[in-house]
Amino acid sequence: MRLSLKTKQALGVTITVGVVVCILSLINLATLTRVSLAESKMRNEMLAAFIFRRAETVVSSREQGVEQLRTDPHIRDLLDSTTAYERNVSYAAIVDAKNVVVAYSPEPDPDVRDPQLRARNPEGQMLEPQSQIDELLEGGIFSQLQGVLSDRPFEVQLPMFIRREPFGTIRIGVSTLLIWQDLKSQLQPTLWIALAALVVAVVVSMVFSNWMLRPIHVLKAGLARLGKGEEGVQLDLPPGDEFADLGSSFNILSAELSAVRAKLAGHAPGVESVVDQLEDAVAVVNTKRELVFANAAFRSNVPGLADIAEGETLADDFPYRRLVARVLETGEPQGPLAIDVPAAEGTVQQSVTAHPLSEATGRPMGVMVVARNLSYLSWVENTLSYSRKLAALNRLLASVAHEVKNPLNAMTIHLELLKQKLRASGGELGAEPAAVDVPPVMPHVSIISMEIRRLDEVVQGFLKFSRPEELLLQPVELHGLLQEVSEVMGPQAHASGVTIVNECEPTLPKVSGDRGMLRQAFLNLALNACQAMPQGGVLRFAAVPDGSRFVVVEVADTGVGIRPEHMEKLFDLYFSTKDKGSGLGLSMVYRTVHLHNGSIEVESVPGSGATFRLRLPRAEVPARQVA
Ligand SMILES: Nc1ncnc2c1ncn2[C@@H]1O[C@H](COP(=O)(O)OP(=O)(O)O)[C@@H](O)[C@H]1O
Ligand SMILES: [Mg+2]
Repeated sequence: MRLSLKTKQALGVTITVGVVVCILSLINLATLTRVSLAESKMRNEMLAAFIFRRAETVVSSREQGVEQLRTDPHIRDLLDSTTAYERNVSYAAIVDAKNVVVAYSPEPDPDVRDPQLRARNPEGQMLEPQSQIDELLEGGIFSQLQGVLSDRPFEVQLPMFIRREPFGTIRIGVSTLLIWQDLKSQLQPTLWIALAALVVAVVVSMVFSNWMLRPIHVLKAGLARLGKGEEGVQLDLPPGDEFADLGSSFNILSAELSAVRAKLAGHAPGVESVVDQLEDAVAVVNTKRELVFANAAFRSNVPGLADIAEGETLADDFPYRRLVARVLETGEPQGPLAIDVPAAEGTVQQSVTAHPLSEATGRPMGVMVVARNLSYLSWVENTLSYSRKLAALNRLLASVAHEVKNPLNAMTIHLELLKQKLRASGGELGAEPAAVDVPPVMPHVSIISMEIRRLDEVVQGFLKFSRPEELLLQPVELHGLLQEVSEVMGPQAHASGVTIVNECEPTLPKVSGDRGMLRQAFLNLALNACQAMPQGGVLRFAAVPDGSRFVVVEVADTGVGIRPEHMEKLFDLYFSTKDKGSGLGLSMVYRTVHLHNGSIEVESVPGSGATFRLRLPRAEVPARQVA
């Protein structure tokens, strides 16, 4: 049985008061008994003394004494008034030396309990002496109580001497039963007072415990509010006792809890948004088949789940219902299984796994379902195999270019030899024909030589472009890099009257990149810009963070600009509008940016300049903002 603190306290007070009242009552009873007995003894001794004095005057000789005592009306009066008016006396008698009754009061009465006495008038009979009341008074409290409760008769005895000779005894019987009845009537008010004291004690202890336990109730209510998730719960307990200390400890704890909750709340959206961005569909279902969480992919993949709120029970046609049931039954992870899920058009095949979730105590909490669209996987696979094919083709073309280069070299050498031989056998460049009929072939030879050089340049460019590059990624500080590019471009810019402005802040977040390749890309862009401003102008570098994951770098000039019809071909290999342009610069820039997982775009107003905008990934993504 569990007792509340209040009940325990009331019980304790009640028992204590009860025990004290009982002990006091017992002591009171014992004292009353002793006083009653002593009083009874004293009065009866006095009466016995009266009787004795009368007897002395009545009796003239020992021989006639018995008859004189029996017949004397005064003696009889004295004996009768003793039994009649003395409350606790049951009989008064004068006996001779042999305990034979000489005079006895009262007259036999049917109410007298003693059957001996009731049967006959004991005068002339033996009356056995009883214990004296003195014995009882000499004993302890308990023996006195026991004596009073035992219903045994006691006597006050006074030996009689006539003419200095023992004659007999005056015996007055004291009834303990009567004393007890007397005591009971005296004790009753005491018992009522004790009972009242007990009731008052219980009521007072209840009120007192209410007052004393109030801080505990305040603490309990505070804990309940904390438990419900309320923030910043503070208790106001009156100062000065142990509860006040407890209250301030509670307040500190509550503040710490709020801080931890706030921190967790800060993390939760981060985690949720990470899960939300996953390509895989993720959902958590509790043991009651209610949806606890579903990420964006899950909601868009599973028809009917788009508007279901968290906490709602899943419909019977929920595609993974059987899988969830099996995990809950067995407690084992299931899958991956291929499941056809109804979609907007037909069905989508998914690879689904389900994992049991349990609390720290091991109690099952629910199931996490992870589904992956197999069609998406096959798209990735296709893309991968496509890029693998591309790489193979690239390698093939590179080796073809190598193969082409060798014969080109041989052709250049042989053309040089041919020119020398022609010169030796005739006029120069066929301008002045020799004696022998040499056809004017030199111009053709020169054209062939020029075309071979052009072909060689194309092959060189291609080889340069298709050389597999290995990225050496490291955090790159853009302000320094662009400063370096400005310095390298300095002389050329100065020659064409171009001013270079670097607006990039040194505090800009670093980007993750291959410094050498990025330097080359920015050099190519700067070179193009200078070439687009033959009459001078401004080349401006600027960079700003773009969201939390990228940095955007702008390379802007005030040159001739790009004609709209050239925009599409700008990044094509070999595309150039310049007489001696290679058409390699922007292709290299494009390749570099894409190798860095970045992007590039261009904006231009013909006649007033062009702006190239490069988006490059940041080296460190701030930990808190994953979105
Ligand atoms: N800043 C610019 N302003 C105007 N046109 C430009 C600029 N940058 C590039 N272009 C155009 O893009 C073409 C391709 O540039 P690029 O690939 O570097 O080859 P190249 O410089 O050898 O011509 C250039 O010929 C030019 O027409
Ligand atoms: Mg160029």
